[in-house]
Amino acid sequence: MTTDMSLDAIIDDIDTLEPIPQITTQLIDIAQDPDSALSEAAVLITHDAALTANLLRTVNSAYFGLRRKIESVQEAVVLLGLNTILDVVLLQLTASRLKAAQAGYDLAAGELWRHAAVSAILARKFAERVEAQNINRIFTCTLLKDIGKLVLNQYVYASGEEIQRLVCQDEYCFHDAEREVLGIDHAELGGRIAERWLFTPDMARVIRYHHLPDENLLEDTDLCIVYLSDCVCSMMGIGTGRDGLSYRFSDQVLERLNYGANGLDQLIMEYALMKSEIDGLMASLSLG
Ligand SMILES: [Fe+2]
Repeated sequence: MTTDMSLDAIIDDIDTLEPIPQITTQLIDIAQDPDSALSEAAVLITHDAALTANLLRTVNSAYFGLRRKIESVQEAVVLLGLNTILDVVLLQLTASRLKAAQAGYDLAAGELWRHAAVSAILARKFAERVEAQNINRIFTCTLLKDIGKLVLNQYVYASGEEIQRLVCQDEYCFHDAEREVLGIDHAELGGRIAERWLFTPDMARVIRYHHLPDENLLEDTDLCIVYLSDCVCSMMGIGTGRDGLSYRFSDQVLERLNYGANGLDQLIMEYALMKSEIDGLMASLSLG
């Protein structure tokens, strides 16, 4: 059972987490601001040589199928659009923070990032399908939704048996078991990290509630999209880990996002149609 001391230690550990590079938060702000200028993002990216090199390698890969070689960030933004460039750059930037193995969640190196990246790409597709208002925010929140696992990992590892017992014997959802044993779950902790890193309150909220702990949250389309993309990734075995199949799936989300009577079949079909495109984008990201 949790003690206040262990919860305090977990919260204090937020400060030991290396913050994401400042350019990431600047680009997140640009992605969420409809009035931001293309040039602003291009200038920021250009100032980072490694990021620029990775971006150019990616946009010149077969996946994007461009007829001529792109030689500058500005050209890439003009030809492919700011949203695509921001997606690629944010996927590449978060890889360095999310690629480590997370033993507490039984995730090998690269799996947490793969889950984050594929679910973010899926979330953009789902958001476009329902013409959501804040598609860039949905993408970014989905990419960072499990950031709390970076801090909680060691505690989940240490209390693995107790958490697993609640999940297997008492049918707890994984995040409820985390909360029962550790006093906080990775989603709430992620929300606190988002606040500490000065993400917008909307972003912190979506990260905090990404497992839809309360039915009233079904009213929030952005949250439903983030939740659904997480569920689909887990069902497809992408970075599923120890917890991936230990969450309850809410059918109401499918209704909320306008899927028909055979919502789950429709969803799986939709994923199958998108899979090669997602695999292509993932392969083009030029990560070592
Ligand atoms: Fe999660």
